[in-house]
Amino acid sequence: SGSINHQSMGENHVQTKRLPQAIIIGVKKGGTRALLEFLRAHPNVRATGPEPHFFDKYYERGLEWYRNLMPTSDPNQITIEKTPSYFITKEVPRRVFEMSSDMKLIVVVRDPVIRAISDYAQVTSRLKKFKSFEEMAFIDNNTQIIDTSWAVIRIGLYAKHLQRWLQVFPLEQFHFVSGENLIRNPGDEMLSVQSFLGLDPILTHKNFITNNTRGFPCVRKKTSGKGHCLEGNKGRPHPYVHPRVIERLREFYRPSNQKFYKLVGRSFDWP
Ligand code: A3P
Repeated sequence: SGSINHQSMGENHVQTKRLPQAIIIGVKKGGTRALLEFLRAHPNVRATGPEPHFFDKYYERGLEWYRNLMPTSDPNQITIEKTPSYFITKEVPRRVFEMSSDMKLIVVVRDPVIRAISDYAQVTSRLKKFKSFEEMAFIDNNTQIIDTSWAVIRIGLYAKHLQRWLQVFPLEQFHFVSGENLIRNPGDEMLSVQSFLGLDPILTHKNFITNNTRGFPCVRKKTSGKGHCLEGNKGRPHPYVHPRVIERLREFYRPSNQKFYKLVGRSFDWP
């Protein structure tokens, strides 16, 4: 319908599929879907729906396959995708760099102990029979040695994963979002994300309403409009985990958290 208009506006204004200029690379259960849905409310953002998994699973399909997954955009819009497994996959940083060395990388982080329990809740939600969280987390219940080969535990070692990324991309190309603050204070978190992405600060606290029964913020494009909330699989109830197990996990993650704060030059105040 708009083909004549497009021609008269010149080639630059044609709606076309563009490779992303920014990627939400992680972390799983950090609040990555919320961040993407919030960004989508910005008029200068276009985003994929499902996770493309291009750089970890489908890399051999090639860049044109990847580009084709993207929504159409015009030149004053940026294209964004999110695939949380990128953060923990060894080959991904180099591959992203080869596509574009100036890629903007966003990581939503969350207390790794809570993240692990959230991840466990997601993994077991599809199973009929499963072991308890602590049976999975400890190699053996007497020694309480943590099973670092369990992905649910390993993903939370943020410093280790980030160090790998920092061998390829400089810190300036990363932006870290506090998953906790994205729930508490979405307006503030979105202002710094917009600034990082070079977007006009259109989304503010006025675009969020939290007076729903689930207690999570919902985003609205117009500050007078109705809020768009995430589906019920975001914000699942967590299983009870014994305080002794939580304390052991806190101890386990503490050195890694400290190292992560140092790498990014900022604390996230996880207990
Ligand atoms: P829980 O299910 O443990 O509560 P991801 O999208 O990366 O998988 O992250 C899921 C998490 O996003 C949820 O974890 C939830 O806490 C968090 N979240 C952040 N903002 C949210 C929002 N506005 N609505 C629903 N969940 C949100």
